[in-house]
This record gives sequence, C-alpha cells and structure tokens, in this order.
Amino acid sequence: MSYSDEIIRSELPEWNALLQHKEQITPVQLTELFVQDPQRFNKFSVRHEGLLLDYSKNTITQETRDLLLSLIQKCDLDGWRNKMFSGDVINASENRAVLHTALRQKDDTPVYVDGVDIIPQIRSALSRMEKFSNRIREEKKFKHIVNIGIGGSDLGSAMVYNALKPFCDPHFNMHFISNMDAAHLLDALETCDPEHTLFIVTSKTFSTSETMTNASSGKAWLEKHLGANKVSEHFVGVTQNIERASDFGIAENNIFPIWDWVGGRYSLWSTVGLSCAIALGYKNFEELLNGAHSMDKHFFNAPLHQNMPVLMAMIGVWYRNFCEYPAITITPYAQHLARFGPYIQGLDMESNGKSVDRQDRRISYNTGPLILEDTGTNAQHAFFQLVHQGTTVVPCDFIAVIKPQHDFKDHHIKLLANALGQSEALMVGKKDDNPHKAFDGNRPSNTLLMDELTPYNLGMLLALYEHKIFVQGVAWNINSFDQCGVELGKQLANELTGHLSTDDVPTHIDASTSSLINNIKNNL
Ligand code: F6P
Repeated sequence: MSYSDEIIRSELPEWNALLQHKEQITPVQLTELFVQDPQRFNKFSVRHEGLLLDYSKNTITQETRDLLLSLIQKCDLDGWRNKMFSGDVINASENRAVLHTALRQKDDTPVYVDGVDIIPQIRSALSRMEKFSNRIREEKKFKHIVNIGIGGSDLGSAMVYNALKPFCDPHFNMHFISNMDAAHLLDALETCDPEHTLFIVTSKTFSTSETMTNASSGKAWLEKHLGANKVSEHFVGVTQNIERASDFGIAENNIFPIWDWVGGRYSLWSTVGLSCAIALGYKNFEELLNGAHSMDKHFFNAPLHQNMPVLMAMIGVWYRNFCEYPAITITPYAQHLARFGPYIQGLDMESNGKSVDRQDRRISYNTGPLILEDTGTNAQHAFFQLVHQGTTVVPCDFIAVIKPQHDFKDHHIKLLANALGQSEALMVGKKDDNPHKAFDGNRPSNTLLMDELTPYNLGMLLALYEHKIFVQGVAWNINSFDQCGVELGKQLANELTGHLSTDDVPTHIDASTSSLINNIKNNL
C-alpha cells in the first residue's frame, strides 16, 4: 500500500488545496475566461488521432488543472496504471488482475497472470473467433444471430453493433436478448426461423439468472421446431465456465473461453465480441481493438496535461468533489450511438458507485456521478430543460461525428449545429426581463469531436471512457472492478421467486413486500 493510500483522500494537502482554490475562483465566469485568454481553446483541447476533446467550456483555469493533476499524481496514478497494465491483482476484493488492455495489445510483450503469459491464450481464442466468424459469414447458413447475455455480456456487443451498422453484413439479423421479461426473447423469436438461427449464449459465469432463463427458453423453442439433436449445431457459448456450458448441451468446439482477469463490463474486447465479429467481419472487429490499443498507448504515455482520459477524469473529480454536482450527461449526436449511454452507465456506475475505499473505510466524499443519457437531439426534448434551467448544474459530455455515413447533408449540418448550440447556450446563457426566459449560463461541458464513426475511432472512444473511469477510481481510492452492490437484489429475487410461485406465505418479509406479493398472487 502506498503512503497516499493510507491517508484518506480528502485529507491530502492536494485535496485541501483544491477546496481552497474552489473558494477563490468562484464564481468563475466561463465567458470571461474566453475574453481573458483568446488562446483558451488551444490550451484546453487535446487531439488524439481522429478524436478531439474540447474541454475549454469547463469552469476551470490553468491553476485548477494543475491542482487536479497534482492530486492524481499524489494518488499514485503512475503506480496504479503500471499495475493494471502489467497484470497486478488490482481487483483485490475478487483477487483478480484487470487485463482488458491485454486483449487489444498488438505486440507479443508477455503479460503474466500467476506466472503464465496470457498473450498466447488471447491470440489463440481470438484466432478461433476469427475462423468461426469467417465461416459463419461465408456459409451464410444462419440468418438470425441471437446473442443472449446481460450487463457486460450484452451492453457492449449491442452498442458496437448499433454504432457500426453501416459496416455490418445486412444478411445477418442481429438480436441482443437480455431482459428476464420473456417479451424480449419472444419478440425476437417471432422474426426468426429456427433452421437459420444461431444462439450465442454469452455469460462469464454461465449462471446468471436472466441469461440462463432466456437460454433455456431459446433451447426449448429450437428443440420444439428442429428436435433435441440440433442444439449443438445451433448453440454457441462464450464463457469461463466450460463445464456448465457443456452441461447445457453446447458442443465443446462451440465454446469460446473468457478468463478470470476480464471483468464483465470490460469484456467486449474478448470473445464476448463474437456476435459483433460475425456481423462486422473479423477485420472490422480487429480495427475496434486497434483503436482501443491506440488509446491505451495514449493513456500510458501522454503527459498528464495532454492525456485525454486523465483530463476528463479529473474534470469529473472537480465537479463531483469540489463543486458537489451529483450528475453528468452523456449525449452523442449520432443515432448509431444510441446504445453508448446505457453502455457507459453500466461501465461507470457499476465501477465507481462505491462508498468504501480500498482500505475498507467508509468514504465521506463523493464518488461516481449519476449519468443521464440519451442521443442528441432527443435529449434536448427530454432532460435538457433541467440541464439549462434546473437548480442543479449538470456537466455535459457532447459527442459529435464530423463525417456522416449517409448523404443527407441537410440533416447532418442541423444535427451538428444542435450539438454546438447546446454547449454554447449552456455556457453563455441569456439575460431576459422575464425570469422564466432567462438562462444563467456558465454551465460546463466537454465536446468530443470524432472525425468519422469507424470501428477504429469507436475503439478509441470506448477505451477513453474506460480509462477515465479507472483514473477516477484511483482519485477516489476505490476498487473500480468489483460489483458487490448488484448481489443483494439478486439474492432476494431468488427467494421471492419461491414465494411467488408456491402457496408459501412469507412471514419474515416486510409488510410492503408481502402485501405486494399477495396482490400479485391474487391477480396472476
Ligand atoms: O451486473 C452484474 C454482472 O455480474 C456484470 O458484472 C456482468 O457483466 C453481468 O452481471 C453478467 O454476468 P455473466 O457474464 O456472468 O452472465
């Protein structure tokens, strides 16, 4: 444990320096900062290949940035980053290394887990995935690909497929089934014909209730139409639990491995991306990995004041801990990125929604923010009223793509104008004698401009947010890689399944829950 980890973060001198600085510079006026420094955009923006981050519309000065970077250095970002990339067990509560970066590593530099170099295993699994996806794409026997999974075994693949639709082979109808509600599965199966349907059951544990329930119903549907002997032909498994997948009836050569050291919500880059590789083609999937790898290198090597994930993370820390803002928005002005927000919600809120630090102490400062998300321009007609005029400041991430993948230039210009118009309105505000029509302004935002929504650029964007979340975890001294908070509800749901499906009258349950059970039973 490093010296700075023993000291509670909010007791670090660097933390206190930021508290004092906050008092001194409040209220800083964004528009004033631009008047004072015509070079502000150049000083507060950074480009990495096809991605530009403009963070000049944040209520920070150069001093704020310096103080934030001093804080993260004091929190030993260098040390933690080295530990993550080199396979140290940084997910201490689950006794695991955290090696999604190894999944997209390009060279053969060994990465050791328990003394074994994992790079050859990765290469071999990805090469099996490449051969399998090539075969499915060439044979064209299957027309419907049904990925059954939830959380990290669903959100990433569904998001990438949506984001990169223009790169996908239209022969394949892709379905991503996650919800326990049978309507999700049934709606999809209604459009599928069994002979041409391939199920991919994606589950690290192969025991998640939603996934196993959906997989069993999918299997029953297939058996009903084609007979039990066809299951092994139509089912593929992506899992760490080979035994359970075999017991389910999946043929061993149709099981693709994932590993202990890949966290569910960081697993898109592994065989969990199989459905994407089929839809996109393996070359495009590889481009996604290449883009992520490029961001990994940027994160590892760029000086902190030019380091995109570090800057985004520490601006987030500024708002969360020193301005006490509870939420952020993520608004991609790109319909194909409609699933990006839910994916980042899972990534960020499951990683940093914690209130105990690495030394098991209850935390008294804020950690992960609430995340509001929707695409632009839809979000403008939903939660943006509050963002513009509500009593709480909500810093925004605007994401826009410069080159569209269609010829409707008119739509695209208006779309981009809306993205810029929102961030400008938030910053400059508007005076009006009618207080209902006045805008305070001075509301902060980041703008990420992507040259084009390609697999490579998407890979960069996703890795950017992964590393942002990691840096914030370091700043808050939390383990960003476990998820104990999802367990209790799951356990209780298991118990309640028994109460709901039998005549059993629960006696030890609170009055609200037991009355709801009775109401359901009486009306089911
Ligand atoms: O939401 C909790 C969680 O454990 C995630 O971390 C994980 O991605 C998801 O459930 C699904 O788990 P599995 O891949 O084991 O089915």
